[in-house]
Amino acid sequence: MKGIIFYYSGSGNTRLACQYMSKKLENIDLELFNVVKNKEIPELDSYDIVGFATFIDFAGPPFLFEKFIENLPQQKDKLAFVFMTFGFKYGKGLKILAKRVSERGFRVVTGHTLKVPESYPPANVRRIGNTNNPVKWRLKNFNRFILDFNYIIRSFLDEGEIEIRKLRISLLNKLFPESFHTPTKARDDMGKKFVDEVLCTECGTCEKGCPYNAIYLDPKPKFDMTKCFGCWYCYNHCPEKAIYTKKFRGKGHYPRPNNQLKKKLSA
Ligand SMILES: Cc1cc2nc3c(=O)[nH]c(=O)nc-3n(C[C@H](O)[C@H](O)[C@H](O)COP(=O)(O)O)c2cc1C
Ligand code: SF4
Ligand code: SF4
Repeated sequence: MKGIIFYYSGSGNTRLACQYMSKKLENIDLELFNVVKNKEIPELDSYDIVGFATFIDFAGPPFLFEKFIENLPQQKDKLAFVFMTFGFKYGKGLKILAKRVSERGFRVVTGHTLKVPESYPPANVRRIGNTNNPVKWRLKNFNRFILDFNYIIRSFLDEGEIEIRKLRISLLNKLFPESFHTPTKARDDMGKKFVDEVLCTECGTCEKGCPYNAIYLDPKPKFDMTKCFGCWYCYNHCPEKAIYTKKFRGKGHYPRPNNQLKKKLSA
């Protein structure tokens, strides 16, 4: 079976988890497609199943990913799965993602959320989340999800019938109202960004990496707040830690997966 995972990963946790899944899913030859870097969407007819993977951004999918899905051609029951990483609570995030995917005509077969280290600097400063995630039982559950997914695909190939799994949400996450997630919440929360002009070397990392094209160098970075969606990529990735906000400066950065996560997901 041929598959593709469309993914958006700001700090690399989700990408790493997708690479792990692609190695462990036995009957699917899975390609990974970075929706920020690659502009040309491949012909979906050449895939039997499509994965949608991203991180929890204020208890829902990031705005960019929602737009990406909205712009996909309407499908007729194409098989799909959803996957999200998160650092603290995912709320109704996975359900919202599955809803968006279903609205485009995909048939969501299964899905999973994996708790990993926080990429959201304010959470790291406040010590919310655990840098050692996924702890043992969460990794076990992730592997169980992959095993079950292998079972679903094997029975589909053998018997031609697909089993659909109900998406699981823990009780605490169920308590989050869907309305908690709005497209501009992250932007409003992050607010204005500033640049320490002494530290900034005008390297262009922030401009090149901003997934929303909200930064231009002049010669120091300038931010277009109408385009910014508060993803913290520029803050997290500036090699000089020169970007700051009203409340956060020089602390809480998470530019890439930490070593323990790399080790756990390297199998
Ligand atoms: C802007 C922003 C908002 C976030 N919101 C949440 C959230 O509401 N709940 C949560 O559990 N984690 C939240 N996180 C943490 C990420 O979902 C988590 O660290 C994820 O693994 C990052 O994935 P990535 O490395 O693929 O970008 C947020 C991170 C960012 C940058
Ligand atoms: S990434 Fe940092 S150092 Fe590089 S241009 Fe942006 S603010 Fe300046
Ligand atoms: S300006 Fe910074 S926070 Fe805003 S979208 Fe770009 S990278 Fe994200």
